[in-house]
Amino acid sequence: MELFYRITLHELIADILTLIEERELSSKNALERVFKRVSGKDRERARGLAHAYVFEIEKWRKKIDFIANSLLKGTRIEDLDLYLANLLRIGIFEMKFKGVNPAIATDSVVRVVKEKYDLNRAKFVNAVLRETEKFDLEKALKKLKEKDRIEYLSVKFSHPRWYVEYVIDLLGYESAIRLLLSNNRPQRYYVRVNPLKTDIDKLAEYLEEHGVRTARTPVDDVLKILEYETPITRLDWYKEGYFVIQDLASAYVAHVLAPEKGERVLDLAAAPGSKTFHVAHLMENTGKIVAVDYSAERLQKMKAKMKVLGVKNVKLVHADGMKFKDKEPFDKIILDAPCSSSGTYRQFPEVKWRFDEKKIKKVIQVQKAMIRNAYKNLREGGEMTYSTCSIRVDENEENIKYAMNKVGFELVDYPFSWGEKGVTEIGDKVFRSFTHLHDCNSFFIAKLKK
Ligand SMILES: C[S@@+](CC[C@H](N)C(=O)[O-])C[C@H]1O[C@@H](n2cnc3c(N)ncnc32)[C@H](O)[C@@H]1O
Repeated sequence: MELFYRITLHELIADILTLIEERELSSKNALERVFKRVSGKDRERARGLAHAYVFEIEKWRKKIDFIANSLLKGTRIEDLDLYLANLLRIGIFEMKFKGVNPAIATDSVVRVVKEKYDLNRAKFVNAVLRETEKFDLEKALKKLKEKDRIEYLSVKFSHPRWYVEYVIDLLGYESAIRLLLSNNRPQRYYVRVNPLKTDIDKLAEYLEEHGVRTARTPVDDVLKILEYETPITRLDWYKEGYFVIQDLASAYVAHVLAPEKGERVLDLAAAPGSKTFHVAHLMENTGKIVAVDYSAERLQKMKAKMKVLGVKNVKLVHADGMKFKDKEPFDKIILDAPCSSSGTYRQFPEVKWRFDEKKIKKVIQVQKAMIRNAYKNLREGGEMTYSTCSIRVDENEENIKYAMNKVGFELVDYPFSWGEKGVTEIGDKVFRSFTHLHDCNSFFIAKLKK
């Protein structure tokens, strides 16, 4: 029975990893999809375990693949059938990162390969995993360090090579290493109070009473979670929408936008809605917010969440934010643009492996088109926040310069109360946060005016 359960878990994990890559899903979303077809009394335990495995395997994927590619002959793990590659990754992860007995780790994976593929491939995986057991990672890393220092850092900290080069260039060597280290630390959670239901003091008290230790943050309506006994998503106040889980930097955007009661606000890339809801809360359900996103699935989720949070002034629109044009102009706009997500590696390690230079160039074109379209939707004198969870200058400061020089926006000299300055000649007027400095996503905000 125990054996059967373990094999099932390995299959589920390989399914989730494969879905994440094939469909570009978040690990949370892929986990939800795969667990829809799982039932039984151990479901919740299996789900917790699968989540931990998937998260760690995505985090350490480059290091895992380095081990695999050091052992594979005549092929690379990236060239194997994806599901098979993921089974191999699970085996290597269990053995080298989790300290599972090598014989047990090998046996669990080989059994699945035998069942799903054939004896030949089972023998192949068996051979690679037997080699893994003997593989001296430290020695191989030392050799790599002498040959190619950037590749060494990329493998050691399990980050894309382009990112390592980029952050050394942006921050200097020491800060870059601190950032790489902090991206691999456990996720930090923040909660934002829903002012329609309670206030920050009552929320802090409630959380304290329920074994959650919190601290105040530079953002007035946000608490940092320091310790908890029960996961906060299991608390009644979470289920009833008294608070939301929202990253610290993300929760700063609505304050910078500073919407006033009764205004018309447009959110051009709204789902899953953290910033839309925040604006709705600050406006106390007055005025009108039009929330556009081109993902129908994400809008559906937003609709459900809106009810829980008591938000009543939002109209959801399934449309392309590069083209959407309303009849009347807006007083304020949030453009929280789709981006390389290179500031969210600690929270979503799977995105590390999703973007290459070509894809980043493409997303920058979308960002620019959205900036142009935002301008068309804004009234004269209207204001907009442009934000991304990217560390890259071309997605941030360069786009702001584009908005100023090519589109007609003016950059507002907003008095940011925390965070770092940006770079280039507009650096003094924009906001940046970094995971190693602020214990949240690396993030960018600028405020623009028409
Ligand atoms: C950074 S996320 C937005 C997060 C959201 N603002 C929040 O705070 O919860 C970017 C969003 O842009 C959406 N998106 C990407 N391309 C789009 C387009 N052309 N038009 C509208 N939405 C788009 C994605 O579906 C995704 O939901």
